[in-house]
Amino acid sequence: MIKVITYGTFDLLHYGHINLLKAAKALGDYLIVGVTSENFDRARGKLLVSQSLAERMEAVKATGLVDEVIVEEYEGQKIDDIKRYGVDIFTVGSDWRGKFDYLSSFCRVVYLSRTEGVSSTDLRSKGHTLSIGVVGVSPSLRKFIEESRYTSGIEVTDLLPLTDGYELDGIDPSSIRIAEDYEALLSRVNAVYVNASPSERFFYSEKALKKGIHVLSEPPVALTARDAEALYSLADEKGVIFCEGLKTAYSLAFQRMVLLLRGGVIGKIKSVEATCTSLAKARSPWLYDKEKGGGALVEWGAYPLYAAFQILGREFCDCRFVSTKNEEGVDLYTKLWMLYPDAEATLKTGIGVKSEGSLVISGTKGYIYVPAPWWKTDYFEVRKEDIRDNRKHFYQFEGEGIRYELAEFVKSIRQNTRTALLSREDSIAIAACVERFLKDGSTYLI
Ligand code: CTP
Repeated sequence: MIKVITYGTFDLLHYGHINLLKAAKALGDYLIVGVTSENFDRARGKLLVSQSLAERMEAVKATGLVDEVIVEEYEGQKIDDIKRYGVDIFTVGSDWRGKFDYLSSFCRVVYLSRTEGVSSTDLRSKGHTLSIGVVGVSPSLRKFIEESRYTSGIEVTDLLPLTDGYELDGIDPSSIRIAEDYEALLSRVNAVYVNASPSERFFYSEKALKKGIHVLSEPPVALTARDAEALYSLADEKGVIFCEGLKTAYSLAFQRMVLLLRGGVIGKIKSVEATCTSLAKARSPWLYDKEKGGGALVEWGAYPLYAAFQILGREFCDCRFVSTKNEEGVDLYTKLWMLYPDAEATLKTGIGVKSEGSLVISGTKGYIYVPAPWWKTDYFEVRKEDIRDNRKHFYQFEGEGIRYELAEFVKSIRQNTRTALLSREDSIAIAACVERFLKDGSTYLI
């Protein structure tokens, strides 16, 4: 008996898949199909698969062409499977030509011709390609466009540069329209990414939402709780998505860490220490500009605040700020201390003071250590008194993390539900803390 094996995502099963499965079956007597799990797809950069693993496996079975369906979960599994199932032929479509030649020392490798004119990517984006406009500064634009390519069904089409003398920074000028003003940009897109200065963000987000355009905003979304609240209410009223682009929220490692903490992995949590500092952020020309909302706490505060809210909740009893400011009154370093009924959080932010950008969560049975830069993390460690009980956890996190926040934004728009990863309440509470700092005369100065 000749055993054949093939692998794929098989999302929204189409005739290209059927042709492939028929041809694979014809190569032998017994066909095994490995369907990729969600985590494996995410790890290899496929972020917007429409169907669940169970649905995709069911669809493959229902073709009647397959003798056995298995799950592909990890890098290197193909070799294990070939040995375990005694496979004679490994096959896959010609779009993978050459990529699996290394398997030929274990079995025969056959590339079958790919059916032209159909793909899951096309089916997913059919009829609803989102056209995104970017409002902001150019250095971040190239990254944003590059990362947007990992999310099917979106296209960055328009830019409104907010800085003089902007450069397209390697972007093909024919691939993007430069808007003459915001109105013109809004008339051409169905979503915007707002990367304006902190004090201008509310203005740009509100204008877009009023026109029924989805908004992804850099954090913090506004400088007062009232403004943040107004943006979420406006989005609800207009039936569109308003999303805070706080990368940590969309990092799998961070989400898994929070679940472990809630499960009591380090006992009762007593302390959260989170630090985010940078000396120069080229992407933020407003960094030292008071009028534009520059300063350490506004620039970085959302990240440690989000971590504190996820880990300890939003019900803190007191909070104090300690800052060092320049002559213009812009804080170069701000430490925020928050007191909870049975825990504390120490959050440090800096744009003129540099420190170790790690996150340490201390509990009654151990602690979690997340190395710098913890806010875009792919790795953390659970550490115990007895080092034999220590555990390291790794998750995929590519690039700057923009692709994950974009994927979540697009998913929210398609499913018309707000993301569960960053709640409206957390987002408003972040703005409330920023507001308190900006208005609070009782900040200690050092
Ligand atoms: N395949 C094919 N012809 C197509 C599409 C896919 O022969 N038109 C083959 C692929 O080469 C692969 C298998 O079907 O061997 C599963 O591919 P998969 O990646 O799930 O399908 P795509 O439609 O290419 O998915 P996507 O657009 O998400 O990459």
